[in-house]
Amino acid sequence: MNSSPIGVFDSGIGGLTVVKEIIKVLPNESIIYLGDTARVPYGTRSKEMVTKFALELVKFLLKRKVKALVVACNTISALALDQIKKISPVPVVGVVLPAVAEAVRASKNKRIGVIGTQGTIESKVYEREIKKIDPSIEVFSVGCPLFVPMAEEGLHNHKATQLVARDYLDDILKAKVDTLILGCTHYPLLLETIKETVGPSVTLVDSAKPTAYALKKVLSDNDLFSNNQNPSLEFYVTDAPDRVFQVASRFFGSEPGSKIKKVIL
Ligand code: DGL
Repeated sequence: MNSSPIGVFDSGIGGLTVVKEIIKVLPNESIIYLGDTARVPYGTRSKEMVTKFALELVKFLLKRKVKALVVACNTISALALDQIKKISPVPVVGVVLPAVAEAVRASKNKRIGVIGTQGTIESKVYEREIKKIDPSIEVFSVGCPLFVPMAEEGLHNHKATQLVARDYLDDILKAKVDTLILGCTHYPLLLETIKETVGPSVTLVDSAKPTAYALKKVLSDNDLFSNNQNPSLEFYVTDAPDRVFQVASRFFGSEPGSKIKKVIL
């Protein structure tokens, strides 16, 4: 038993899609969320820069005595997970492996599509991890950078998003994948548009739920569960908490209960 909080972090507020699932799967856990809203997006940055920023976020959370870290960002998980694991004395859960495991389970025709930020797609992490499990699976990847601002602006089901989705997903459709990994924290917000574009025969896999279950397993393996009946939820961002509030509600499904605090890293 351990009632210390779980540290969850992201380049911005997209990681709240993961927090939402963690709360459902692990309702007794306290959570500290940190979003680097001052420096988002990470998806267009170099591996060096993403790693430097990510390690700063990790240090902030470790100072707050978290018992585990969840890297609720595909770009950070793709580019900096090894470095984070190197400096972290507590278990670290990324979003890539849980989604990969689910997609490999779901695919029948062994053709899997992956969409994500440029950083994630260029890292080829999904391809590598999928092929480690089953080398016969073919992977088709496309970067969809415009989906991030569109999700933040709440443009799901908007004409512009439908148009962009058709353009981005054209090659994926032609590749006849039966499973598509939404390899970015923001994409679950555009689920309907993506679903409409790829059609009902393609299974969509997003990392939020599989990551929450991966965290549950890590807590169980390390005897770190909490039985706190009144767990706390703290939100920190690195810039403009008031502006973030409304957008955060889109990702979280409701307004984050507590006030979002600004921190200087
Ligand atoms: N959180 C990022 C991800 O999941 C998307 C936003 C960004 O580019 O920083 O890849």
